[in-house]
Amino acid sequence: MNDIVNNNNNKPLSLVRLQTITENDLELIRKWRNQDEIRNFMYTNHIISPEEHRKWYEKISNDPSVKYWIFSNDGKMKNGLVCLYNIDAKNKSAFWGFYVGDLQTKGKGIGSRVEFTILDHVFLVMDLNKLNCEVLSFNEVALNLHKKFGFEEEGYFKKHIFRDNKYFDVIRLAMLKEDWLNIHRGRMLKLIAK
Ligand SMILES: CC(C)(COP(=O)(O)OP(=O)(O)OC[C@H]1O[C@@H](n2cnc3c(N)ncnc32)[C@H](O)[C@@H]1OP(=O)(O)O)[C@@H](O)C(=O)NCCC(=O)NCCS
Repeated sequence: MNDIVNNNNNKPLSLVRLQTITENDLELIRKWRNQDEIRNFMYTNHIISPEEHRKWYEKISNDPSVKYWIFSNDGKMKNGLVCLYNIDAKNKSAFWGFYVGDLQTKGKGIGSRVEFTILDHVFLVMDLNKLNCEVLSFNEVALNLHKKFGFEEEGYFKKHIFRDNKYFDVIRLAMLKEDWLNIHRGRMLKLIAK
């Protein structure tokens, strides 16, 4: 871990392995996404059928404004899914979202390693300027995690999502490239390496 702390020279760091999703990952992703522990935190929470899942895959495969990766702690076992969407080359921005699908890995630091890796990728590899995300207001684990990294709240959308016959509030957060590189990156490197 000392190697990680010493790497504070703004070279992109990958604390997890990212692999672009392929057709072979489809059933694993569907299984992950249909778990209560995941769908409860998503905008839609119905059980996804193989047909619906395939249509989703065909749509995202032809969409240049999205990127989906499987992340892996050790490069072998697949642990979860992370995506960028609404990638906007003109305004140099994107949105992102993720989940740890392999529930046994959850809560042991992998979420933080993915968040670090994505921030470095977006700002240092893709050279975007702003990364946004949206979180259901009751999702305290995700909110705390994003705020700990330095994401700032930019919007509170009341009764934004209708699900289970109820409305849910949504919080929009964002990180700017300059804030990640100048303020938060070094601090988070030290925290993660602890
Ligand atoms: C959000 C998520 C990706 C975080 O992954 P993770 O593996 O739990 O993350 P970490 O282990 O790095 O933990 C991150 C922080 O959350 C805390 N945390 C994790 N699980 C927790 C729980 N069940 N209760 C309270 N705190 C928890 C950790 O203690 C840690 O806090 P710390 O850094 O102050 O110690 C994961 O919980 C998840 O997949 N959730 C469901 C999908 C989701 O909400 N995605 C985000 C939508 S925007």
